[in-house]
Amino acid sequence: MSLDNSTIISPTLDTKWWKEAVIYQIYPRSFKDSNGDGIGDLQGIISKLDYLKSLGIDAIWLNPIFESPNDDNGYDVSDYRSILADFGTMEDFDILLKGLKERGIKLILDLVFNHSSDEHFWFQESRKSRDNPYRDYYYWWPAEKGTPPYRWSWFDVESNAWKYDATTDAYYLHYFSVKQPDLNWNNPKVREELYAIMRFWLDKGIDGFRMDAFQFISKDPSFPELPNDILGNIPEIMKYYGRGPHLHDYIQEMHREVLQHYDVMTVSEGAGGSPEEALLFVDPDRKELSMAYHLEGVEIGSHVMNYGIVNYKKLYTHWDDAFKTKGWLSIFLANHDQPRMVSKFGNDSSEFRAICSKMLTTFVLTMRGTAYYFQGDELGMVNIRFDSISDYNDIDTINKYEFIKSQNGDLEGFLEEQKQASRENSRTPFQWNATPNAGFTEGKPWLKVHPNHTTINAESQENDVDSTLNYFKTLVQLRKKEPTLIYGSYTLLDEENENVYAYLRELNGRKILVLLNFTSQEAVFSVPFSILRANVLISNYNQKSIESNKLLPYEAAIIAIK
Ligand code: GLC
Ligand code: CA
Repeated sequence: MSLDNSTIISPTLDTKWWKEAVIYQIYPRSFKDSNGDGIGDLQGIISKLDYLKSLGIDAIWLNPIFESPNDDNGYDVSDYRSILADFGTMEDFDILLKGLKERGIKLILDLVFNHSSDEHFWFQESRKSRDNPYRDYYYWWPAEKGTPPYRWSWFDVESNAWKYDATTDAYYLHYFSVKQPDLNWNNPKVREELYAIMRFWLDKGIDGFRMDAFQFISKDPSFPELPNDILGNIPEIMKYYGRGPHLHDYIQEMHREVLQHYDVMTVSEGAGGSPEEALLFVDPDRKELSMAYHLEGVEIGSHVMNYGIVNYKKLYTHWDDAFKTKGWLSIFLANHDQPRMVSKFGNDSSEFRAICSKMLTTFVLTMRGTAYYFQGDELGMVNIRFDSISDYNDIDTINKYEFIKSQNGDLEGFLEEQKQASRENSRTPFQWNATPNAGFTEGKPWLKVHPNHTTINAESQENDVDSTLNYFKTLVQLRKKEPTLIYGSYTLLDEENENVYAYLRELNGRKILVLLNFTSQEAVFSVPFSILRANVLISNYNQKSIESNKLLPYEAAIIAIK
C-alpha cells in the first residue's frame, strides 16, 4: 500500500516519502568484503542487495565512500568526486545505485562539508602561501596576531583545534583531527564548490544527503575568547564553535541553489542546542533541510538506566512537542559514532539480549519521526569490549588515550570506560554466518570480528521465526501498513512510571498504544483505557493479548485500542 494514496490519511497531512521511510545505515568498511583484503566494499554491498531488500527498508545511508587518507575512516575527504579505492570504483558505485533502484531502495550519501582532508587539493594549495587563491578556503590565524583563542578539538592529541603551520607562519583551524581542516563557508567560492559537488551526486540519481557536523559550518571568523563562566554549559559553548551568524543563510542558499531542484531528503547531524533551535532547520516554510537528528537522546551517558527512564521519556517528549505541528525529526538509538544499541540502552546478557533488542527496535520503529537503524542491530549485535588499545583503530579512542597518557592520567580507567562507550563497538564486521570471520571476509578483517558471531549471525536468524532479524522485518512491515505509526500524534502516558515507557499514537480516530518495559523485572503500568480485549498487533513475547497491567522483563507490545 502506498501511504500517499491512503484514504486513512487526511489531506491536510504533509506526506513525504522520507517521513515514511525506514533508513538503514551501512558502514561500508564493515558490511561485506568482496575481494579478501579485509575491508568491506561496494561490491560487497552489491552482493547483499537481496538481503537489504528482504529487510523491507526504504533507503540506505552510506557512510562516506569518497577518496580519503582515512585518518577518520572517510570523514576526511581528499576528493569529493571519486570513490575510495578500498571501496571500489565509480563503476561499482553506478552498479550499486542501479541495483538499489531496481529493488525500490533509495540511497543517501554522507556529506562531510564542515572540513576536508588536509590532503585535499584545496588545502594543499591553501597552506602554500598567504596569497594563494585557495588561502581563504580555510581558517588561518597569522602568528603575528599572537596565539589564537583556545578551541577544543575532538580528535587532537593535544586537545587544541589550532595547528601551527611553519610554511606560512600561521595556525589553521581543525575542530576534528589535524588532518581535518575546517572549510571556510564565509567564502562564497567554497560554497559554490560544495554546491557543485552536491549536484554532481544528485545528477547521478541519489536521493539525499546526511550532513555531517552541520551545525559547525558557520563560524564567527573573529573567534572570540571563550568566557570562563560558560564551562560545562554545552549549548552556550557550542555557539563559540559553530551555529554562527550565517548558518541559516547558507542553508537557505543551498536550498535555493541545489536542493529545491530535486526530490530529495536531507538530514543534519545535530541541529542546535534545543528543539526550538532545531525546528529552524526543518520548518518547511523556511526552505532549509528535511529533518534533523538530535544528539541529546544518545548523549545521556553510558547507560539509560543510570540516566533514569523518567528523564529519558521527558527528553523524547520535549523534543516531540516542538515538532507537533511543523518540521520533522528522526529517531535513532545507534550509529557508527555510538556503541551498540542493546549494550547501551538495554541488556546484552545472554538471558535478555534478544528480547531487549526487540524492545528497543520497537521503540525506534514506533516513535514519531523517520527511523534510522544501524547495520547489525537487526541481529542484536553487541559491544565487542576490546581489552587492549592495540585492538582499536578509531582515532577518537586512540588520540584520547594518547592525551591521557601525556597527562599521566588513568589509562586503565579510560580503557574500561571505552568498553562501554567507544564507537568502535558498533564498527566491528557484520556477522553474516558462523564461519571464521563471520562470512565478512576471506582475508584478515580490518577490525576484529566479535567472537559471538558463531551464535549471533544473519544466516541462523533468517530461518528462525523468533529471531531479532525476523522481528525487525515484521515491524518494518507493520509501519508500512499503519500510517498512524508515521503521521499519528504522540502522547506520553504514565509519565512518572520509572520502568515502563508507554505512549499513544493517534491518527483520525485510530489509536495505537506502545508499551515498553525498559527493565529486567516485571513492571506494572497504568493507561487510561481498557486493553483487556484490545488487539495486540505485535509483542516481542508473541502474546496475543495483555491480560493485566503487567509487562514481562523487556516486554514490548504494540496494541490497537478499540
Ligand atoms: C561526525 C561523524 C563522525 C566523524 C565526525 C567528523 O560526527 O559522524 O564519525 O568522526 O563527524 O567528521
Ligand atoms: Ca575489500
